[in-house]
Order: sequence, then C-alpha cells, then structure tokens
Amino acid sequence: MQAYLLDFVNFMLRWLHVIAAIAWIGESIYFVMLDNGLRKPKAAEDRDKGVFGEMWAVHGGGFYHNQKYATAPDKLPEDLHWSFWKAYTTWLSGFALFVLLYMANPGFYLVNPNSDWAWAAGMSGWQANLLALAFLLGGWVVYNELCKRISPNMDRDGILSLAVAVMMVVVSYLSVQMFSGRAAFLLTGAVMATAMSANVFFWIIPGQRRMVKAMKAGETPNPLDGKRGKQRSVHNTYFTLPVVLLMISNHYSFVYSHEYAWVLMALFIFAGALIRQFFVLMHAGKIQPAYPVAGVALIAVAFWVGMPGTGASNGADGGEGTSLAEVEAIIESRCASCHSANPTQAGFGSAPAGVIYDTTAQIEGHREKIQEVVASKYMPLGNMTGMTDEERDAIAAWSE
Ligand code: HEC
Repeated sequence: MQAYLLDFVNFMLRWLHVIAAIAWIGESIYFVMLDNGLRKPKAAEDRDKGVFGEMWAVHGGGFYHNQKYATAPDKLPEDLHWSFWKAYTTWLSGFALFVLLYMANPGFYLVNPNSDWAWAAGMSGWQANLLALAFLLGGWVVYNELCKRISPNMDRDGILSLAVAVMMVVVSYLSVQMFSGRAAFLLTGAVMATAMSANVFFWIIPGQRRMVKAMKAGETPNPLDGKRGKQRSVHNTYFTLPVVLLMISNHYSFVYSHEYAWVLMALFIFAGALIRQFFVLMHAGKIQPAYPVAGVALIAVAFWVGMPGTGASNGADGGEGTSLAEVEAIIESRCASCHSANPTQAGFGSAPAGVIYDTTAQIEGHREKIQEVVASKYMPLGNMTGMTDEERDAIAAWSE
C-alpha cells in the first residue's frame, strides 16, 4: 500500500511539474521572442507616448498588438500582469519530486558506490541528502556571486557567460563524482533550474516591484533594476534547453552511467545553449546557422564519446563464454529481488522501470541491455545485492 501510494503521488507530482514547467518555459520563450522581434513603432503618436518597439501578431483567430515602452508609460495601469507563480510552482513541485524519489531513498538513488572518491562512495544516506541540498544551495550562491562580482552593472555580461559556462563544467564533474549518475544529471539540472527560479524570486520580481513603486511615487526607476532583470532572464533563456535535457536524461542510463558522464553532460549543456542562441538571434531577424551547426557538432561528439566500446561500457575481457545457466543464476541472486513481477526488495511495489527477469526468455531477450548496465556498474542499484567483479566479468563474457 505504501509503495503504491508513493508511486501515485509521484505520478501526480510529475504531471504538475511538467505542466508548470511547460507554462513557465513557454512564457519565457515567448517573451524572448517578443522582445527580440520588436520593430520601431509605425505611428508617430505611439513614439511620442514613449513606445520603443511593437509587434503585430495573429494567433488563434485574433490579431494582437504588443507595445514595449522604453522605460514605462506615463501612467501605470492597475491590472498589470505579473508572471512568477509558474516559476515557483515548477521549482516547488520539482523539489517535492526530488525529496520523494531521491531523498526518501538516498542509499539507492543518491550515493555512488563506484565513485573515485572514497568518502563519497562511503557516504551514509543522510550525508548524501545533506550534500545534495548543499550542492543546490552552493550552486546558486556561486552563480549569484559570479553575476554580482563580474558584471554588477551589466556591462561585462560576455565574460560573465564564460564564467558561468566554466562553472557548469565544474558542476557536471563534481556531481558525477559525488552522486550516482542518474542523480548527478538531475542535480546538475536542478542547480540550473534553482538558479532560474532564484533569479525570478530574488532579482527579477523584486526589481520590478521597486520599479513599479518608484513610478507610482512619481520618481524615475533605477535603470539597473531593469537591466539586471534582463540579464538574469537572458541567463534563464540559455538554461532552458539544457535543463530540460538533464531532467529527461533519467530514462537513459547509457548516458549517465558512462565513465565520462560528466563530459557528456557538459557537451549537452553547451549544445543546448548554442541551439537556443540560434533562436534568440532568429527572433531578432538574424539567421546564423553556425550556432545550431556547432550545437549538433557537440551532440555528435557526445555520440562518439558515449559509444559502447569506449569508456566503461566495454564488455568482455576475452575469457570463455558464460553459459546461459550461469547467467540466470547470477541474475536470480543479484537482480531478481527488484526486477520481478513480484519484487521482494522492500520499497518496491512493482518491477522498477518495468524490467522483469523472471523467465529465461526475459533474460535472454535483454542480453545487451543487461551487459550494458552491469558493465557500467549502474546495476544492481547502489550494489544493494553485492554483485562481485567476477560476476560482472561473467556477464560481460556471456554471448549468444
Ligand atoms: C535494489 C533494487 C535493484 C536491483 C537489485 C537491480 N535493479 Fe535494475 N533497476 C532498479 C531501479 C529502481 C531501476 C529504475 C531506475 C531508472 O529508472 O533508471 C532499475 C532499472 C534497470 C534497468 C533499466 C535501465 C534503463 O536504462 O532503462 C535495467 C536494464 C536494469 N535495472 C537491470 C538490472 C540488472 C541486470 C540487475 C542485476 C545485475 C539489476 N537491475 C538489479 C532497481 C534494481
């Protein structure tokens, strides 16, 4: 009953999380498109009113006329639309999912028993939970300090982007050393997603509030507030594609259980940002195919780095082939407690990832996949069932 309840809550939270993220990212992409697609207003009276750009659009059978003011209109309307709940809902539901899925079971999902760092491999569940929270918080603190120190007046944003790029490589590397591969990808995505939400919470919205307050008091708003809001929302736009990739990566163990998982992660992050850059420029009327070409080139490099036979996914060490009967015995003792139609492992109500090894056919039909997850040491999860290196070699030497 408890496992069922958790699964159900997880399912519903994930639904909420994905919907909120679609709404938030959709709106953010829309506003970047709008901002970059603005044209000089045609009518002189609009220009006199302080309108600095406009966009005409047709959508859903209606015609829309958006206008952006250089600073603000003379008089602010009462019913100003604000956007922030989409961002907060996305973060809160994502964090709740992380608690429910990972922090409730840190021994399985967070600890990386194969880490090169002995202290990380030997962490207790509670230590792993605390480290994960510190990782998220630390990511925001470092990113925020970089922004504040390198480009406080928003005039050195180019150098700042470079610094953030370097930071993301470090985050990728640290995450795979400290956490299990699946959690590492998720947490790196969460570092970026936390920065995005915190940008909204700590800078963009408070800055807008100060601007509105100043205008209502008949004062000129501090232009730095506007510029900083823009700086942070530009960062957010480059984070969106990488974050979505990292969040969906948990279905693809060949990526996150790879020996060079952190290199793959960094390549995907840069590919996402480069592809986003193409669209940002495209909305401003500049077509620069070099960006997506570079992005796709990085994806091709990731394909090459991740190819089986390089890194950890390499299989047999040449010895004699293992018989199916021996393989079955190993799987029975090391995998079947979880991967069965009726798992005996506590906390598992149904076969994880739908993977079931109850019959010979089920085992035989998944040889390559079994060899992949065993060689990369992704399975058995957290090596809960104590699989030995000899058994891993035996699985690697199993051929048809
Ligand atoms: C302690 C429980 C547990 C044990 C033992 C275990 N697994 Fe898993 N396995 C899981 C969980 C949980 C998932 C789902 C994680 C995920 O979605 O990536 C999973 C996922 C998988 C997947 C799907 C991964 C993918 O890329 O989609 C395969 C294949 C797999 N396990 C094979 C094995 C093999 C082979 C063994 C034995 C050597 C094994 N597992 C032992 C819990 C376990």
